Amino acid sequence: MTFDRFLQEACPGLGLVWRKYRRRSSRHRVDARLLELGLEGYRDYLERIRSDAQEAALLPDLMRVTVSRFFREQKQWLELKDHVLPELIATISGVRPLSIWSAGCCGGEEPFTLALLWLEYIRPFHPGWSVEILATDIDEASLERARRSLYRWETLREVPDEIRTRWFSQANALWRLDGKATALVRFGKRNLLTDPPPRGMDLTLCRYLAFTYFKGERLRVSLLRLWESLRPGGVLMVGEKEVLPASVLEYFEPMPGSRVFYRRIG
Ligand SMILES: C[S@@+](CC[C@H](N)C(=O)[O-])C[C@H]1O[C@@H](n2cnc3c(N)ncnc32)[C@H](O)[C@@H]1O
Repeated sequence: MTFDRFLQEACPGLGLVWRKYRRRSSRHRVDARLLELGLEGYRDYLERIRSDAQEAALLPDLMRVTVSRFFREQKQWLELKDHVLPELIATISGVRPLSIWSAGCCGGEEPFTLALLWLEYIRPFHPGWSVEILATDIDEASLERARRSLYRWETLREVPDEIRTRWFSQANALWRLDGKATALVRFGKRNLLTDPPPRGMDLTLCRYLAFTYFKGERLRVSLLRLWESLRPGGVLMVGEKEVLPASVLEYFEPMPGSRVFYRRIG
């Protein structure tokens, strides 16, 4: 049995989109698990997960995709800073900090992009205003990378030059993010599906997680968690290439002219 065939058989029952796991890294981890269990091939492993719920529950973690980049889809970040952030900030008018949640933050690239937008474009004009960015992920190794805040060049390639020069310094072959940016983000381990979400957020980001990898019940639960995280009128940001299910419209309405910003209904 090929790995693709294995994914096609195993993923639907687990609420996962099989095509998204056709990656070398996912296959390597599954292969290592086969060795650990002393199994001959993917067919044996498929039988094993069909008869062993505990083993099946491990599979989504084994195959997890943990790649991210600063300013991934740069245009959306600029739209966020030009239109969405000013509007959200105006509703608060500096009375309390702006609350943001990055759900599935990977190695910190996404929440630190928010921190950089804040430092570059908001703080200079409103020095008294503050932001609290909570960044969570299920993956310990990714959170560890986020706390180190040292990055390879590939993850920085979409960062505008002037921002890179100001906020990153080179440390051998890696790039270290300035402490003023890291200080704006608090990291924590959280499973989007099973842990209660934070509440009262003005902005929640869920990009290339639920709407890319999940289907069925996993997707339904994720939508509910994201809705619960936001205050009334709060905004959800998703990835540009993500296709959202029709059921999203029960919870959110698309913001005019945008593919990635949705406002909480109710
Ligand atoms: C492909 S990365 C996307 C990172 C970032 N949001 C971006 O768009 O660049 C997906 C992230 O979701 C995390 N993840 C997967 N399942 C999760 C879950 N159930 N709860 C929380 N995080 C999860 C993975 O560990 C990974 O860091």
